[in-house]
Amino acid sequence: MSHKVLVLPGDGIGPEIMAEAVKVLESLRSDGLEIEIEHGLVGGAAYDAVGTPLPEETLRLARAADAVLLGAVGGPKWESLDIALRPEKGLLGLRSELGLFANLRPALLYPQLVSASSLKAEVVSGLDLMIVRELTGGIYFGQPRGIRMRADGQREGFNTLIYSESEIRRIARVAFETAMKRGRRVCSVDKANVLECTELWREVVSAVAKDYPQVSLTHMYVDNAAMQLVRAPKQFDVIVTTNMFGDILSDEAAMLTGSIGMLPSASLDAANKGMYEPIHGSAPDIAGKGIANPLGTVLSVAMLLRYTLDRPDLALRVEHAVAAALDQGLRTTDIYTDGCSRVGTAQMGAAVVEVLRR
Ligand code: IPM
Ligand code: MG
Repeated sequence: MSHKVLVLPGDGIGPEIMAEAVKVLESLRSDGLEIEIEHGLVGGAAYDAVGTPLPEETLRLARAADAVLLGAVGGPKWESLDIALRPEKGLLGLRSELGLFANLRPALLYPQLVSASSLKAEVVSGLDLMIVRELTGGIYFGQPRGIRMRADGQREGFNTLIYSESEIRRIARVAFETAMKRGRRVCSVDKANVLECTELWREVVSAVAKDYPQVSLTHMYVDNAAMQLVRAPKQFDVIVTTNMFGDILSDEAAMLTGSIGMLPSASLDAANKGMYEPIHGSAPDIAGKGIANPLGTVLSVAMLLRYTLDRPDLALRVEHAVAAALDQGLRTTDIYTDGCSRVGTAQMGAAVVEVLRR
């Protein structure tokens, strides 16, 4: 059966890193992978071309595809646009229109990169944790929201943090299922000491835990979790949390691994159809220079193979090829340390493809 993959390069370094990831995906055709690759517009690139960050055509292609591979969106060029037209809306619209409520963000430290982390080797070596972030609810999407004029003549901004029991239940299930395939530990992160919404979160996650007696569940306040992530990150296996806490903690966790440029993510719906993207942004400061790290996107291809195409064998091959490229001493600028060979985006991509073809 042939799989349809929609490629959305987006903005900034998006097109550069995506070109390498697509080469990796295409190279797997000689392993018998049948894929059709289509391209679409999203983010600032879509706004420039057709006046909206999420064109109908892109949404149609995304719905028809088995999986979406996305680069990154955003950049200073579009920052002064109305919030509804900003590139980020393209990404948020895809997540919500496709029902991609479960965001898996692994933070895995490659042993080759221990010295690229800003933390001491003994704190991070062997790090392997998974953040399960709720992605289509919470304060990102809650209504009412806006900026309004008050009676006293000053404006006020407001957003709504809201989760229904069913929204909490389904993300909790994803976390427990994920933990069953890993270290069987879930830490649910909330702010239940202050926010009623996350008091309910804690209660519902605890109820779901009863269906997973083999998994041990702990709860942690988000401020403590932020601290524990840099103090002793190896205590975590699976972290499950809300949309906004997950956004923040996943950037923090990423940095433990040396570079945010290394990390992939999967955003899945209830049927494991998904959108895959590196967790870094569009990095406008280095866009077009050919120096961005393509490995986060390449590893997103691996997640796509594992979760949507159900080809764990090919996912492993891609992950091993990335490790082999690192073993050769190849480093993009973001992960460079003394004694390694500094390479550009295309050279890194080519090295991965070469290992795969060996
Ligand atoms: C992420 C990003 C997005 C988010 C932005 C670009 C809207 O930071 O995927 O983590 O906040 O979810
Ligand atoms: Mg983020």
